[in-house]
Amino acid sequence: MRTGFLLLHFLLPTISKSCFSGKQQRKHTDQQFQHYKVVEGEVFMMPCSSPESSSTTWFKGDESKKCENQFVANEKDSGTYRRPNGSNFTLQVIKKTKLKCYEPSESSAMLQYAYPGTILCPGHKCYNNTAVVWYKKNKALWKHNRQHCEKNGQLVLNEVYERDKGVFFCDRKITEEGVTWIFRRAVNVTVIPFLNPSSLPEIMYPFQNMTEEVELGQPHTVLCEVSFDFEVNISRKVQWFINDGGDEEKKTLLLMEEPQEKRGRLFSKVNVTQKSIIKEVMPQHLKHTYTCFASNIIGNKSVTIKFKPKHQEPFLVWIPFACFVLFAGAVVILHVKWLELQLIYRSHFQLGGSDGDEKDFDVFVSYVWTAPSTEVANGLTLSSKPYSDAKGCVSNIRQISEAPIEMLLPHVLEHQWGYRVCLLERDILPGGAYTNDVVLTIKRSRMLICVLSAEYFASSDAVFVLESGVKALLQTSAHKMLLIWTSGTSASFIQPDLTVPKLVQRAVKVLPSLQWDAGASYSAFWIPLQKALPAQEAWQISHMQRPQLD
Ligand SMILES: *[C@@H]1O[C@H](CO)[C@@H](O)[C@H](O)[C@H]1NC(C)=O
Ligand SMILES: *[C@@H]1O[C@H](CO)[C@@H](O)[C@H](O)[C@H]1NC(C)=O
Ligand SMILES: *[C@@H]1O[C@H](CO)[C@@H](O)[C@H](O)[C@H]1NC(C)=O
Ligand SMILES: *[C@@H]1O[C@H](CO)[C@@H](O)[C@H](O)[C@H]1NC(C)=O
Ligand SMILES: *[C@@H]1O[C@H](CO)[C@@H](O)[C@H](O)[C@H]1NC(C)=O
Ligand SMILES: *[C@@H]1O[C@H](CO)[C@@H](O)[C@H](O)[C@H]1NC(C)=O
Ligand SMILES: *[C@@H]1O[C@H](CO)[C@@H](O)[C@H](O)[C@H]1NC(C)=O
Ligand SMILES: *[C@@H]1O[C@H](CO)[C@@H](O)[C@H](O)[C@H]1NC(C)=O
Repeated sequence: MRTGFLLLHFLLPTISKSCFSGKQQRKHTDQQFQHYKVVEGEVFMMPCSSPESSSTTWFKGDESKKCENQFVANEKDSGTYRRPNGSNFTLQVIKKTKLKCYEPSESSAMLQYAYPGTILCPGHKCYNNTAVVWYKKNKALWKHNRQHCEKNGQLVLNEVYERDKGVFFCDRKITEEGVTWIFRRAVNVTVIPFLNPSSLPEIMYPFQNMTEEVELGQPHTVLCEVSFDFEVNISRKVQWFINDGGDEEKKTLLLMEEPQEKRGRLFSKVNVTQKSIIKEVMPQHLKHTYTCFASNIIGNKSVTIKFKPKHQEPFLVWIPFACFVLFAGAVVILHVKWLELQLIYRSHFQLGGSDGDEKDFDVFVSYVWTAPSTEVANGLTLSSKPYSDAKGCVSNIRQISEAPIEMLLPHVLEHQWGYRVCLLERDILPGGAYTNDVVLTIKRSRMLICVLSAEYFASSDAVFVLESGVKALLQTSAHKMLLIWTSGTSASFIQPDLTVPKLVQRAVKVLPSLQWDAGASYSAFWIPLQKALPAQEAWQISHMQRPQLD
């Protein structure tokens, strides 16, 4: 190795000197030759107008060939090609059998990377080799700017590179009947990293003692990926064996597909993928083990795997079931709570009472008198005077704020905010049937407010108003409803006793409501109330103001 290296260094400069002195060669390549003889089955490449340009296209009849395009010469390619500007080019493809001597091995050469490499021009023994010129693609090799030597039909590259792989051409000049031809031969060069491998194969996949999941009754492919050192005389082999009962002594070769080989990422490596397909996985397949055996001239390596049945993820099984349960649950909830959902929708999302012009009242207030002390009652002379008077009597106002909501509410709505309020005992003429009156009044009102108390639920008449309101809301949504829970009552106040209809019991839990406490602040009660009320008509808006309570 070392002596060889020294020898090269010693010899090459002198070789180079002697090689590049030939002036004849340069003259030769500078001329434009128009007649080419090539050998059938060898690679040829149409000349370009200049070695640098690659845009020339040659035409022969209907055929066209771009220059720089390699093709394997065939007899039918013979003929004269023309360029659009009129220059001609004649190609003659010679049958191998008509050659003086033909040696197939001369058409290819194997050069070892990083070493000097020698190529002979095919037909070396039978032709005059004095004026052979070497080309790589369409460019003469002496123009390639690399250390090399051309002499007597032999090309010596000082050092072989990976990029040297490909086709080299060697041109001879021959004269026939006064016509000078270029007789071109091709050599397919491969570059190899080394002649012999130096390392054992490496099994990249599978891993030792791995377990592969298989589906019973389904086909399964076992795959083995092995990285080998490059080798010239191929000894590499990858095989799959089945070991009966896991006993590696009792192994049988499996039926395998053609191995797939790829040049490794490293120039010096070859990747081999070997597959074996088990057409149908049977329970007995689970009892055996499977060995991937990889060998080359250096030695062998193997990996053994086994199978286990694939069982579906319990999680995946549960998903459809969970979906079903969710769906069924939703259906049940919808079924049970349909009334509530309807009420919530109608009372919250539909604009009741927008047709205010067609209704006689803005607010129908339903309450049951909780019998306040006469003192308070006297203070409330149900006249609007004390409140509309800006300099109202302070004592009156205090009394008012202490008044029960049943009294306060209609008063504020009517006299301070200017709503058209309906009170059953005041506005409905006596004498009609009570139930008719109630239903009609609800229809004539934009909103129904029920002031709820223990007394309210005790009164069947009052509960009838609430029930009628809920029924009307379920049938049409032309009115709004608002519940006002007075001190000590709330939705949970209603015990499941029989005097209150089920419909009402369910409705009061979802209808919009406000909580009233004797000392409720302005923002805790009156502002939300204002927001819940139907929109004011234009003429009413100027009246909308803060109730004068504090
Ligand atoms: C090319 O060939 C055609 C037909 O053979 C001939 O007429 C023409 O003169 C030739 N052109 C040249 C430049 O030789
Ligand atoms: C045709 O064009 C090429 C370059 O494009 C030139 O080398 C050649 O001499 C031309 N031939 C004729 C006949 O003009
Ligand atoms: C080989 O060709 C060269 C020039 O091309 C010529 O000088 C020489 O005489 C030829 N040799 C033989 C043996 O024909
Ligand atoms: C050259 O040889 C290599 C390896 O033998 C082959 O893969 C390639 O196809 C050949 N190239 C041509 C142009 O024949
Ligand atoms: C490859 O095998 C051939 C034929 O057996 C032999 O001549 C050659 O030396 C071998 N090459 C290498 C690199 O072992
Ligand atoms: C694989 O399993 C065998 C026996 O089952 C054991 O001897 C060996 O060490 C294991 N190899 C690896 C790499 O786990
Ligand atoms: C060769 O196989 C190894 C391991 O599987 C991988 O990392 C590498 O990329 C493969 N090379 C090629 C060229 O496929
Ligand atoms: C595989 O290599 C081992 C040594 O590593 C050797 O004993 C065995 O005989 C080889 N097997 C085969 C089939 O070549």
